[in-house]
Amino acid sequence: MRILQAVSEFFPYSKTGGLADMVAGLSGALAQNHEVTVATPLYRGIREQFPDLEAIGEEFDLPLGNGKFTGRWWRHQPSPNLTVLLLENDAFYNRPGIYMEHGKGYWDNPERFVFFSKAVARLAPDFDVTHLHDWQTAIVPMLLKEGAGKGTTRMVFTIHNLAYQGACDADRFALTNLPAKLFHERGPEHFGSLNFMKAGLHYADVITTVSPQYAQEILTEEFGEGLSGELQKRQDRLTGILNGVDYAEWRTQGNPHLAAEYDSGNLSGKATCKTQLLKIFGLPNQDLPLLAVVSRLAEQKGIGQMVEALTELLPDNQFQFVLLGSGDEALEVVLHQLQAAFPAKVGVKIGYNQSLSHKIEAAADFFLMPSRFEPCGLNQLYSLRYGTTPIVHAVGGLKDSITDIQNPEGNGIRYEKFEASELITAIQRALKLYRDSHKLNQVRKIGMKQDFSWPIAAEKFNAIYAQ
Ligand code: ADP
Ligand code: GLC
Repeated sequence: MRILQAVSEFFPYSKTGGLADMVAGLSGALAQNHEVTVATPLYRGIREQFPDLEAIGEEFDLPLGNGKFTGRWWRHQPSPNLTVLLLENDAFYNRPGIYMEHGKGYWDNPERFVFFSKAVARLAPDFDVTHLHDWQTAIVPMLLKEGAGKGTTRMVFTIHNLAYQGACDADRFALTNLPAKLFHERGPEHFGSLNFMKAGLHYADVITTVSPQYAQEILTEEFGEGLSGELQKRQDRLTGILNGVDYAEWRTQGNPHLAAEYDSGNLSGKATCKTQLLKIFGLPNQDLPLLAVVSRLAEQKGIGQMVEALTELLPDNQFQFVLLGSGDEALEVVLHQLQAAFPAKVGVKIGYNQSLSHKIEAAADFFLMPSRFEPCGLNQLYSLRYGTTPIVHAVGGLKDSITDIQNPEGNGIRYEKFEASELITAIQRALKLYRDSHKLNQVRKIGMKQDFSWPIAAEKFNAIYAQ
């Protein structure tokens, strides 16, 4: 089969979160049996990282309302069955950020991703299946089904995060150059606004999301972000498939980012990783339990509530905490305040750093994911492989992948309600587990031996494509 994936970030070319990892892992696994092409924008820095990009075809113009914008595809070929096409338009994509700067989204994100979607729609008719991801490419099925170039490609749309819908003023619909009568409730119109996500839900042939639990949750008002009604209408076409992990990237042996190797049979290298990390964060090494977070700093992730819990626990409990993240500037301030209040116990680094994220995963004893909602979550899966016990709010993909240590096969610590008091209890249970080294080792080994590799998940997509 010839499969086109279209996505706004793709590891290792660009990444702000799990979306980039997910599509990279899925595409790599699919390329074992299919011809896979991935279309993604050519952001700043990619050219320097991949100097062997090759221009393909001529420059082309695409209309956005009354304006006309020029694009060109550049090709990279990481493996024989996997082609990456990068869309060039410097005014749109050659910027310091992918979606935002200083915590604020670019005002012209609708223009940037309508342009990208139109370029993808030109490619799509050559493929058997076109697989779109999140709001940035969600209008492609509408462009193809309502536009001039009607083709036979079948369209799968994956929701990675329903909270980001690309909602904007109705007048932006003109960017699509589709007839105004299509701006309709049965389509992209949502309470008077243009909603990219809703267009995807309406027009895609099949909808998937990134865990079975999240697929259930988004049908409810609590998690549906205003679109539960639309999702209920298409429930027969909605499936939840848990993301996989690329274990060639996320590994504890032969990993260039780590200070020492280890595996489930011998965890001693993990202690070396911890010693190195405490140095990086300038924290004293006192053999205390180390809790960690690597995260986008967004409301979804429950960071505010976590700071509340830590502020309560840190004065009277012996543990350390490190965080790497960026995003919401108000959260950055609160985290710096926490560090200032507990300088020997708390380390905070604001920024994006892939190498440091590996070091943290390896060094930590516990990985905190106190998310209010979490469509899948990848860090808990990476943590399991790194022998780092996840502490999670039982929601979305966290609920599907983490079993509490009260069960014989437990791989982590779970709490049910999104409340600071429950998180406090969960952290206290972690500190107790740390003191029981026999049980701790047992829990770590259970997690390290689990297999969330991509071929298993990719098989489920194969079945959908084949339908
Ligand atoms: P989300 O996609 O909602 O951000 P996931 O858990 O699916 O959540 O994936 C997050 C991915 O992004 C992980 O690979 C994580 O390590 C990475 N990540 C998030 N923030 C940072 C950061 N500041 N530096 C490096 N990696 C980060
Ligand atoms: C989104 C979700 C996250 C998921 C990722 C990859 O960013 O927030 O839970 O793991 O997409 O699918």
